[in-house]
Formats: sequence, C-alpha cells, structure tokens
Amino acid sequence: MGKVNWKPGTMIYPLPAVMVSCGNEKEGYNIITVSWTGTICTDPAMCYISVRPERHSYDIIKKNGEYVINLTTKKLAYQTDWCGVRSGSEYDKFSEMGLTPVKASIVSAPLIEESPLNIECKVKEIVELGSHHMFISEVVAVDVNEELIDPKSGVYRLDKANVICYSHGKYYDLGKFIGRFGFSVKKNKKGGDKGKHANK
Ligand SMILES: Cc1cc2nc3c(=O)[nH]c(=O)nc-3n(C[C@H](O)[C@H](O)[C@H](O)COP(=O)(O)O)c2cc1C
Repeated sequence: MGKVNWKPGTMIYPLPAVMVSCGNEKEGYNIITVSWTGTICTDPAMCYISVRPERHSYDIIKKNGEYVINLTTKKLAYQTDWCGVRSGSEYDKFSEMGLTPVKASIVSAPLIEESPLNIECKVKEIVELGSHHMFISEVVAVDVNEELIDPKSGVYRLDKANVICYSHGKYYDLGKFIGRFGFSVKKNKKGGDKGKHANK
C-alpha cells in the first residue's frame, strides 16, 4: 500500500469539541468552542486548551486564570458550532443560544447547565506555542448531571449522554460500542484469551 507524504499538519482526529465557558461576572460571561483540548496528567488531574490570542475569550481566560470545559452532546451540536463561529465581542452567546450559566463550585467562570459534565479548571501555565497559546490547567472540580448517575450502582453513565466528537471539519456522534478497556487481554471464563479471538 503506497503512502502520500504531506507537509506537517494537525491531523490527530477524532477530538472532542467542547464548549469552554469563561468570565467572572454575568455581563462578561462567554463561551468558546475548542477542539485543541485534552487530558495531560491523571494525578493531579490536569488538562489543556489551546486558544488563539485574537479570540475574545483569550484575554478573559488569561486575566481570570479560570475556565470551565463543558462536554457537548448531539442535542448541543448546533450551539457548539455556533459558539465556534461567532464572537463574544458581538454576541451574548448564553442568551443567543438559550444556554444557562450556573455558578461553579470553585472557579468564578460559570458552568453550562445543559452540558452533561463540566470540568472546572485553574490555569497553571501559559505556553506560547505559535498560532495558539496553551493553557495548562489543573482540574479543581468536576460537576456531573444527576440524571446520568445510575441510582443503584452510582456509576456515571457517560455512554447515555450522547457526547459528540469532531473529525477533520465534521461533527459525529460516537457510533457503536466496541469493547471495554483491556478487552484485548481479558481472559474468558474457560481460561482462554479473548484478545486472540477478537476477530473471529
Ligand atoms: C469545532 C471547532 C473547534 C474549534 N477549536 C478551537 C480551538 O481549539 N482553539 C481556538 O482558539 N479556536 C477554536 N475554534 C474557533 C473559536 O471557537 C471561534 O473563533 C470563536 O468564534 C471564538 O469565540 P470568541 O471570540 O467569543 O472567543 C473552534 C471552532 C470550532 C467550530
């Protein structure tokens, strides 16, 4: 199979498309859609967002040192896209999109109520990479929607939230379940290795 060699580019996909809420008072609240985001440390829990300095949100996040990553769902796809193509310098995105700002437990930035999971972040370091500056942040609290917690087991059912992802300019839902973490090496009850037979 031949390969075509491309110049360097950003081709790690799929990625999340999250709505990042920022601002420390109602009048200045804003939402920016971000795909350059991810987990970078388990303990302490740390993540990043990379934002272009020309974004309206950039100065808000830099000044306050706090923001919230709100996961997005199929139901929130329209709002996710809109908040990624319109600027808070011209619009109040919360009211335009009918989204509800809710007080966070630790940070001053608001949670988006309609999101199934909100990650409260405090900025630790800003790395000026080039087109984007990376906000390396500590996760200081996580807020989850009650209705997604199974009342019997207490397990958070993220699989029921219909979260979406972003791949090369397009949004997708998650499609079919393929396997659990470690399924490739899990022994079946008869002592065999399920991993070896996964494609049979
Ligand atoms: C799916 C998607 C992903 C995006 N990811 C980023 C990103 O990672 N970093 C960034 O600076 N802008 C990103 N943008 C663009 C901003 O969301 C967009 O410029 C937005 O209008 C900025 O809002 P603001 O001016 O209110 O801050 C993305 C847009 C979309 C639609």
